[in-house]
Amino acid sequence: MQNPLSLLMEVHGVERFFLGPKPFVFVADADAAGKVLVTQSSVFRQNRFVFDRIQPVTGSKGVVQLEGEESKAARVKSRSVFSKEALQKARFIVEERTQAMIDCSVNCFDPAREITSLILGTAFEIFLGVQIDVEKSGQDYLELNRLCGKRMRSPITFPSFRLRKLQKKIRDLVRDAGNTPLTYAFRNDPYQLDHFLTFLFAGHETTAASIAFSLLLLAQRPELQRKIAMGDQTLTREVYREALRVYPPAYMLARQAEQSMSLEGVRVKRGDTVIVAIYNMHHNEEYFPDHAQFKPGRRSKIPYSYNPFGAGAKACLGERLAYLEAEVVIEAFCKAFEFSGPKNILSEALITLHPKEGQFLNLKKRRVYD
Ligand code: HEM
Repeated sequence: MQNPLSLLMEVHGVERFFLGPKPFVFVADADAAGKVLVTQSSVFRQNRFVFDRIQPVTGSKGVVQLEGEESKAARVKSRSVFSKEALQKARFIVEERTQAMIDCSVNCFDPAREITSLILGTAFEIFLGVQIDVEKSGQDYLELNRLCGKRMRSPITFPSFRLRKLQKKIRDLVRDAGNTPLTYAFRNDPYQLDHFLTFLFAGHETTAASIAFSLLLLAQRPELQRKIAMGDQTLTREVYREALRVYPPAYMLARQAEQSMSLEGVRVKRGDTVIVAIYNMHHNEEYFPDHAQFKPGRRSKIPYSYNPFGAGAKACLGERLAYLEAEVVIEAFCKAFEFSGPKNILSEALITLHPKEGQFLNLKKRRVYD
């Protein structure tokens, strides 16, 4: 399959076309996106094509995959994972691990690699109370993720011995979970293991990618780094918000039409795969003038044109945790270092949109301001 991002950028409004034998409806119009995700969401189901491919890393009955009443019940159970107390504990874990990462960092820093390790270790600890060896189990987990990402590009899936072996290793690790808000919330749930896997998956790759992109973008803007280092927390938040626009990790959301209907005059047939093209809307000149420019603080007035965390009944549960982690890491990083990086940021779209590895930041210890 063609690179999903270059394919997305060719779409305007709502378009229906075939990729091989499969009919797709691409939605790059904010009004239509609102209908698919929120006002007419009952017409759409989660998309099996996507979930079958990522099933080895998420399980098949976690909160993301569930529909209707089962989904609602799992979302209610999940609330305690993001309670004030739970987030306070999470903040402590993130702060401690971020400081450890900063203490070990000298001169050259690969954000895609280092931030992924940081956030993966953090996710295992926050959700499962497990301290993993990021160089061993962490790499197994990331390899499983990559294999699933490659399956997303392929119209058919093949059984793979390597995939099954990695899947078993990760499941064994997850079964060792201790006492955390997540394990408590799902203690008697028949799909407990799938929920744990889903939280790990949903809670690490997107967050890691978005923080790494934020640092790469900040590397081009020393004046913003300096303001953040001096404690401008509003700016930190705006930087992260805008990084999520320029590089939305969930660059497209997939659904399946359960009934035939019309979207902005385009006929959608029952069974069509409907792709809400988040990346495309974030880069629509009408919604975000000078869309390629990184401008923290900007807003679009058009509803549903900015959707990094989705919307409606299946919207992201972890948005507050993602902001918390990002703010801690970005602020600590800017306080510790002045940094520069590549002029052109290279990204790759597999399951999520993430920065390519090997794009190094040059670090210099920051002078302390009074
Ligand atoms: C920058 C970070 C993140 C981004 C961009 C992101 C994005 C998204 C999006 C777009 C969805 C909706 C998917 C859809 O409609 O098909 C989603 C769902 C979800 N996210 Fe996040 N997410 C992030 C961080 C997190 C974190 C830290 C967690 C914590 C566990 C999390 C947990 C979830 C869960 C459980 C769902 C499924 C909700 C449901 O299906 O009912 N996410 N996320």
